[in-house]
Order: sequence, then structure tokens, then C-alpha cells
Amino acid sequence: MELKHQIYSVGVQNPELEVFDIIMKTPRGTSYNSYLIKGSEKTALVETAKEGFLEQYLKNIEAIVPFETVDYLIINHTEPDHVGIIPELLKRNSKLQIIGTSSAITFIAQVINQPFNSRVVKKGDTLDLGGRELSFYPAPNLHWPDTMFTFDSLSKALFTCDFLGAHHSFEPLLFSKMEDKADYFKSAEKYYMDIMSPFAQPFVVNGIKQVRELNPSVVYPGHGAALDTGLEDMLKLYERLSAKPEKQGKSVAIVYVSAYGFTRKLAKTLEEEIKKSFPVALIELDEHNKAQAYEAIAEADGVLFGSPTFLGDTLQPIGELMAGLHPFSLKGKVCAAFGSYGWSGEAVGNMTERLQQLKTKTLEGVRARMRPSEEELALTRELAAEMVDALK
Ligand code: FEO
Repeated sequence: MELKHQIYSVGVQNPELEVFDIIMKTPRGTSYNSYLIKGSEKTALVETAKEGFLEQYLKNIEAIVPFETVDYLIINHTEPDHVGIIPELLKRNSKLQIIGTSSAITFIAQVINQPFNSRVVKKGDTLDLGGRELSFYPAPNLHWPDTMFTFDSLSKALFTCDFLGAHHSFEPLLFSKMEDKADYFKSAEKYYMDIMSPFAQPFVVNGIKQVRELNPSVVYPGHGAALDTGLEDMLKLYERLSAKPEKQGKSVAIVYVSAYGFTRKLAKTLEEEIKKSFPVALIELDEHNKAQAYEAIAEADGVLFGSPTFLGDTLQPIGELMAGLHPFSLKGKVCAAFGSYGWSGEAVGNMTERLQQLKTKTLEGVRARMRPSEEELALTRELAAEMVDALK
């Protein structure tokens, strides 16, 4: 399909996909968008499709030009959903020059393990296709270090790969033709939270700024709809989601589970002590408040995780919550673990190890055997005091 003068959509829809990259649920499927741009002299492809979709992808290209006549392949981001089929493409067109940032070219070499013709580009570098010029704008960490945008001088189209996209299969690709736009924005928001949110500050903010400076007529992402309309709303969504929460002073979050109320007693003792110095969000996890817990953790400067020991380990809700955290989400935070136990008491040690893996400033945790004794509550107050000192 011709989207703009001699810019063709040649990507592939995958409406059946239920889970992307093992962890992301994709109830609306996804698409692997790719674009063919023709100049009077040269032809370039932007992105490719995922492994398993080669046949359809080549068919789409060959409906416009023979694949062996394509001169350039521009790769704005090298996760395998965009580069996995490059070896097959090189078999059919070995002179194809692959263009990307320095990290992108390095990553492609590591993905395909074979020599290829490449060009590394930096900010403002250009590629003349004849009658139109493409220019390149590295936009790192959206969401890999390799990422860049490509801008077409003739149509003012901007190619952003993952940025401003969504896992949402839709034909005929153009957002202006979509009936349920609100549903698309739900997919876009989930996609942002799954993929971009760890990179909000400063990378997403810089990416938005770069898009606004280029002031494109349309954005062609690597997944989801082409934003021939709706770009301003999408940028506003990204601005809202990437904004730093307004904060007045420091705060602490205490997130815990409790079987018999013993770990709850430790949690409340910590809260009582810490709130003399800082506001505290105290959350006893249940099946409904996981999102609230993540939000409280994101906003806090100090975080305490509490769990009893069950079968030699942390209780599942806290274990799962901590598995969903990453070093970016706890960057700069002071953390510690606490919990009651009956026999062996591994939970606090395991949570502490997890906090160290997540590279937090980790204080020594506190354990209580069964119902906390006065001595154990005194140790708990000491942990609270340490947390307050560390935050001060
Ligand atoms: Fe669509 Fe980060 O790959």
C-alpha cells in the first residue's frame, strides 16, 4: 500500500499473537511494520519483519520492486523482531547496505554472525535517494541503546521503530481509518508501560523533544498504526506517562504480606517509627493492589519489603512483585527486608539478595521468630531509624 508519495507499507500483520517476548500480553496481536521508500535513483527499506514472516514480507516488497534492486536497509532498532530475517534477505541481495547507529551495527553483527555491508550513521547524517534525502537522529535507549529515528525530507515522514508504537494489529495501518481510537490508545499505553517506562527520564523525554523539533507530517512506527493523525495525542500520552511525579520531600513505602499478623506487626512498627520523620505508604499486598504497590515503590525514596517464610522461601505475592522490579525501577532507593518465620526463616535473606541483585542501597533486614518479641520489635525500630538516617 502506498502511504505517501513513493513510501509503501511492506510490513506484516500478526493478529494472532497473544504474548510478545515471553512477558508482554498482546490481546490485539501486533504488526512488524516495514516501509519501502523510493527515490529517483535509489530504494531504501526501513526495518524488516520477524522471523517466520519472510515469505509474506518478500511478497509485499516484490509487489513494488524486485528485492535484489533494493539498495539500503535502514534499521532504527535491532531487537530480533526487526532484524531476525536479515540473513535470509542477504542471501537474496548480498550487496544490500545496512544502515544504523554504531550500536545497531554491532548488535546486528552479533545477531546474524556473518559479514555484511554496513554504514554507521550519526546525528544529522544523510542518505540521498534522488529527489529525497533521508536524515538520521540517534535517540538512544528507546528502549535499547541502538535506537534512532529516520526522517524523510520530501514527505516529512518520521520513522521511529518501537517509539510511539503499539502492539495492535490493524489494517489498513492508518490511524485515521481506525474506528475505535480509544481502544488503540489503551494498547499504546500498555505498550509504553511494558517497554518504554523504565527509560522515561531522560530518554523518552528527549525522544519526544526530538519528534517535536522535527515536526513530522506523519510518524511510521515499527508496531501498530501509522500516525497520519493522532500524533499530538500520542505525544501527550507519552508526556503524561513520562512526567516525573511531583514530590514534596522524601517518603517511604512498606509493602508486605502477612499470614498470621506477625509480619504485619513488624510492618506497623516500621511505619510508626518512620512516619515520625517521613510520610509512609503502607501496603498489605492482595490480588487487587499490585499496581498500587508498584506506584508507591516508584514514588518512594526508601522501600521495605516484608514476607513470612513459607516452605523455605518468600511468599509468592512478594516474590512475584520483586521479580517484576528491575534496577531502573529501584535506582537510588534505600531498601531492606523484614519478616516473621517459624522454623528456618529464609525469606528475609532471599529478599535481601534480590535487593542486592537490583543494585539498591540495601540495609540489613530484620527477622522475628513467630510473634515479634520486645527484643525483635526493638531491632525493628532500629531498622526504621537506619532507614530514616539513610534518607536524611
Ligand atoms: Fe519491536 Fe524493541 O522491538
